[in-house]
Amino acid sequence: MATSAPEKIRVLIVDDIAETRENIRKLLQFESDMEVVGGARTGGEALDMARETQPDVVLMDINMPDMDGISATKALLDDVPYAQIVILSVNNEPDYMRRAMLAGARDFIAKPPSPDELISTIRVVSERAREQKKKLAAPAPQAAAPSSGMGFDGPGRRAGRAIAVYSAKGGVGVTTLATNLAVGLHTVETPAVIVDTCLQFGDVSVFLNLQVKNSIADLAARAEELDNDVVDEVTMVHECGLRVLAAPQRPEMADEVQADQVRKVLQHLKRMFAYVVIDTSSTMDDTTLAVLDVVDLLVAVATPDIPAIKDARLLFDLLNVLEFPAAHVLFVLNKMDKRTGITAEAVAENLKHAVDGEIPYDERTVTASVNRGVPLLLGDKSRPPARNVLDLMGAIKHKLVSQAKEEEEVKEIERPRAFGR
Ligand SMILES: Nc1ncnc2c1ncn2[C@@H]1O[C@H](COP(=O)(O)OP(=O)(O)OP(=O)(O)O)[C@@H](O)[C@H]1O
Ligand SMILES: [Mg+2]
Repeated sequence: MATSAPEKIRVLIVDDIAETRENIRKLLQFESDMEVVGGARTGGEALDMARETQPDVVLMDINMPDMDGISATKALLDDVPYAQIVILSVNNEPDYMRRAMLAGARDFIAKPPSPDELISTIRVVSERAREQKKKLAAPAPQAAAPSSGMGFDGPGRRAGRAIAVYSAKGGVGVTTLATNLAVGLHTVETPAVIVDTCLQFGDVSVFLNLQVKNSIADLAARAEELDNDVVDEVTMVHECGLRVLAAPQRPEMADEVQADQVRKVLQHLKRMFAYVVIDTSSTMDDTTLAVLDVVDLLVAVATPDIPAIKDARLLFDLLNVLEFPAAHVLFVLNKMDKRTGITAEAVAENLKHAVDGEIPYDERTVTASVNRGVPLLLGDKSRPPARNVLDLMGAIKHKLVSQAKEEEEVKEIERPRAFGR
């Protein structure tokens, strides 16, 4: 593995043409603040090398023999969430750019790049890598990256991870965040499912513009005899590939679903998917308690106003009583607005609880996204609030990686288990 002074910008070059890689390498060797940590010929090689070298910036070609640069971008960001991908390609049609941005690329430079443009772009985007690395490193001594052996970053060895998004107060953006996180976490390598446990008035399907045919009530009825085929049959598939288990079509059908059945359904889904994202109702009823039983991470959401902060305090107290591990909670403030004068620092101080993510108030963007049924993360991810949701996703992944590491250290056993798909 390459080592370097920590302050150097670590650059990985991905291009199937040796001459291009060499030219870029030569160009960058004169920049004292940069270090080329590797050159990959294919998308697959890029993933291996990125895991090994932990680059800050990846210069990525689009057309490559195995995996194209766009798929490689998406997969690479799952492993090295802070890496900044700059696409270098002759394909500068808007559709390519859009797809590259959707995959998480930070910038796009036409080939051949001018030396000045390339170098200044690397410097600019590396700042962001540094910021994200700092954020991700905060709870742990080093910016740990998931190794291929961690399990949930590939069709792996352990059960998937369940993440519930919850608020004791309604209307704070739980469904908005749950749908976006699910869309963002889903990849071919890490398949995700979103489950709507808001049994009476669930609206995940509306947020994703899907027509509900089957729902969680259909799986609950078969909770004792679940298999992957039944799950495939009942869940819907969003255009991005994310599986969706909707809430019942009508409120009165909620009575058909028992908390214990929800628990069993979620446990089964954890064996099938890398991520199970759960949208919850704000009522702390038996269903929500069953959700808490199976989740690995709770994303608690509040807004910067006194009633929501009061409810967040009550939630933290309740979690304490329930002995829900504090380390398994991420606290997020949504609808942050400078004009209210309530800062994240003030909320953290008041609640004696760190704020792990902030999403700005942006009525125009969020309302348009909800009304169109197109999640923010399927639009321009480079700007707020989508960018902040991506940062939150990075924090979630980091937390899960740390958890998995701790578990492995404690158990030191391998559980051979595929997602079963
Ligand atoms: N960051 C934001 N900026 C502006 N508006 C937002 C933001 N996040 C969510 N909203 C809006 O707030 C409203 C409530 O959002 P959402 O339905 O996600 O909340 P919820 O907590 O799931 O509510 P419920 O309790 O009804 O389930 C929606 O109209 C959504 O567009
Ligand atoms: Mg909701």
